[in-house]
Amino acid sequence: MKTLKKVLFWTLVAFAIIQFIPIDRVNKPVDTAVNFVDTKKTPEKIKGLIKGACYDCHSNETIYPKYAYFAPVSWSVKSHINEGREHLNFSVWGTYNKELKESMLSKSIQTIQNKAMPMPGYIVYHKEANLSDAERTLLVQYFEEMLKSKTY
Ligand code: HEC
Repeated sequence: MKTLKKVLFWTLVAFAIIQFIPIDRVNKPVDTAVNFVDTKKTPEKIKGLIKGACYDCHSNETIYPKYAYFAPVSWSVKSHINEGREHLNFSVWGTYNKELKESMLSKSIQTIQNKAMPMPGYIVYHKEANLSDAERTLLVQYFEEMLKSKTY
């Protein structure tokens, strides 16, 4: 019992201490001249879907959920955001070259279709990102149209 109490105590101490490890939650400013939904003049409905389902991890307009303020969950959230932005950042879409745009559009289509994106774990806490099949189809059609007409 004594050991258990000790373990519990030190676990709590460790938990308290890690709260002080800082995490950068400051979003970089968004330049509307290169931001995807601005440059593409994305229709309101589609814009709502992309912003609600993808922008938290794939843009500089991340809205941090409450659970993102507690370590170590916050570390996991931040690493998903960093990784997501590294792969695809809609806020800097205009700076991508043709190949990267094409690749990202077709990968987006794929990941939306096979439900790899938005990340399944994220959907649980974000209703607006839990896209219905109809919404997935709308997004896929929008990206496909853009690919076909080369208006990316
Ligand atoms: C909770 C965070 C999160 C959300 C929300 C999210 N993604 Fe991702 N996305 C990631 C992470 C992390 C990666 C990189 C690791 C991976 O491929 O799983 C990624 C990778 C990608 C890639 C690159 C795949 C590759 O092979 O390079 C595409 C494309 C993508 N996401 C599209 C989307 C689209 C479209 C949405 C919205 C419908 C979306 N994501 C929503 C976190 C997210």
